[in-house]
Amino acid sequence: MLENPQRYTVTAALIYANGPIHIGHLAGCYLPADIYVRYLQGTGRDVAFISGTDEHGVPITIKAKKEGITPQQVVDKYYTQIKDSFEQFGISFDIYSRTSNKVHHETSQQFFTTLYDKGYFDEEVTEQYFDEVANQFLADRYIVGTCPVCANPNAYGDQCERCGTALSPNELIQPHSTLSGSQPVKRQTKNWNLPLDKLQPQIEAYVNSHTEWKTNVFGQCQSWLKEGLRPRAMTRDLDWGISVPLPDAEGKVLYVWFDAPIGYISMTKEWAEQQGRDWELYWKDDKTKLVHFIGKDNIVFHCIIFPAMLMAEGSLILADNVPANEFMNLEGDKISTSRNWAVWLHEYLEELPGKEDVLRYVLTANAPETKDSEFTWKDFQTRNNSELVGIFGNFVNRAVVLTEKFNDGLVPGTCTPDDETQLALDQALKDELAQYPDRIGQAIEQYRFREALTLLMDVARLGNKYFAETEPWKVVKTNPQRAHTILNHALQVAANLAILCEPFLPFTAQKLHDQLGLTTKLDWTNAGRTDLLVEGHQLAPATLLFAKLDDDFIQIQIDKLNKTKEMNNAENMGAPAAAAETTNGTPEALEEAALKTVAPIKDTITYDDFAKLDIRIGTITEAERVPKSDKLLKLRVDDGLGGRQILSGIAKHFTPEELIGKQVTFLANLAPRKMMGHESQGMILMAEDADGALAMLPPSKPVWNGGGVS
Ligand code: MF3
Ligand code: ZN
Repeated sequence: MLENPQRYTVTAALIYANGPIHIGHLAGCYLPADIYVRYLQGTGRDVAFISGTDEHGVPITIKAKKEGITPQQVVDKYYTQIKDSFEQFGISFDIYSRTSNKVHHETSQQFFTTLYDKGYFDEEVTEQYFDEVANQFLADRYIVGTCPVCANPNAYGDQCERCGTALSPNELIQPHSTLSGSQPVKRQTKNWNLPLDKLQPQIEAYVNSHTEWKTNVFGQCQSWLKEGLRPRAMTRDLDWGISVPLPDAEGKVLYVWFDAPIGYISMTKEWAEQQGRDWELYWKDDKTKLVHFIGKDNIVFHCIIFPAMLMAEGSLILADNVPANEFMNLEGDKISTSRNWAVWLHEYLEELPGKEDVLRYVLTANAPETKDSEFTWKDFQTRNNSELVGIFGNFVNRAVVLTEKFNDGLVPGTCTPDDETQLALDQALKDELAQYPDRIGQAIEQYRFREALTLLMDVARLGNKYFAETEPWKVVKTNPQRAHTILNHALQVAANLAILCEPFLPFTAQKLHDQLGLTTKLDWTNAGRTDLLVEGHQLAPATLLFAKLDDDFIQIQIDKLNKTKEMNNAENMGAPAAAAETTNGTPEALEEAALKTVAPIKDTITYDDFAKLDIRIGTITEAERVPKSDKLLKLRVDDGLGGRQILSGIAKHFTPEELIGKQVTFLANLAPRKMMGHESQGMILMAEDADGALAMLPPSKPVWNGGGVS
């Protein structure tokens, strides 16, 4: 760990510009980074806070294909959207740029050339998978197959996201193209490998010199190292990306994980240029502390591959820390782009304006720092009402309102109490308060943001406790001077809160400054003092820092998610199971590709397990579309018991008319559930063809309705 750094280069992952930001991204990476940087800046440190969008790689081109637009249109759309929502949310990047910029292309190509000239690359002609239908080589995420380690049928060509193993396409079992679904063939192609195997001793020494890293990060690195690093191609046969700066590399681009982290450097250059500073100080001086904030799926790239590139390059510093977080779940389920199971930042900002800090607070309080965590709207409401309103807001409000009442909103003066108990209470308040800035600062510097936030709330708790012990509203009747002294102290605590909350709750910090009538920002280095507000200083009229959220308010958000769930349920009826979820999002393509593979046989069950299923034959007597749903049909099925209603997600496959009169097989004892407001009492069984088409399962000759299947 670097002691006494002279400056900081802090980076937050360059997210793919192929979709909007959700709360998982914020909690995992951007909020902790912002808190860290705001704190460092608040304490007068020299910091460059760098981020932007990653605009190359297969995730972009797959999105473009899906939306029927060009990759350039994809990145332009999402760059702007992502940048705007970060800005509105108060993420204080010094620069938010993009890897499509010229300076980035040049910097990455230069980097590649340096490594090439130093002889670092091994040129290798290999057989790579080629899709004859789409007429292109299949790099990384254009190819999926079964993971040789955990049998996940949707592992990517570069990584299995279920077990985390790094893969090459050749290791996949039953590989298939996500472009056409076809079985790819092998073709020869030349690429340039970075020999990570040869660099292993240096990388190992680097990682092992950082035992202070978070255990989840350090542990993942160790397991990679233990497996033994393998050479990795730094070029790809693709038509979207930065061209390889070699004469014999026609049609090849840099591997996206080669160019993207170099983005941190090129964006620093861009920022330094704008600021008239020297970028090299932020990347070449070993007194500079480099910290990468990322999510856990990016660990290997930041702790092993990028450092290996930097070592090979030779003139640049390595990260001092990589405080990666785990994942945040939403209402009991994994956040998922394809299932729209997320709270999207741009929607939140629109639907809950002025509540940026509430989300910042809740996400930090539940940050997945050491293990996966959970966001629920109920918890959001509770934390808002009982913590932000009940503790923080309540304390500040009492201090301000009582000052208005007893001293016309002017900061009262103090006098030393002659009573021993009072003296002791005042001293205890001052002593305790004085410790918080360092304690909060230390927690932040050690990347323990949840703890830091708890400590911040403890300052407000301290104020509330002081009020409870001193009761100025009573004392004022007999000893107004004492009441004034108490209020002065309380207001000093409020002023401290205005400083200390800034990294976490920047909008609230501003409001609180305004409330306290402060036109210049209080300095973090003065925190802990009880003479921040001078006698006679005029406060602004009392306003509330936070407002209670009632049940109806929260219910709107819960309903929105329930609707998503209903729609997903409907879609899953008669449709294949969702493909492996990814954060970088090409599940649609995966789902499509997965259709081409015969699924492996599931775990063995006993006859008793089977006997629990009540499968029967019935006849469809009525069928109609469900309004507002393009997937669902509402069916009436004669089950020999008076009939039942079954909803089925087959509207894209059958017209209502063609179903009426048909015998079908259905699961009769599935727990009833609601879809789009209609109850479904069972499930129609369907066979699924390789292209996703569905077929009914009628008996081979008509049988009586209600007949069991065994
Ligand atoms: N684009 C990657 C993702 O969204 C992150 C890249 S971080 C950087 O997962 F190191 F490459 F910049
Ligand atoms: Zn796996």
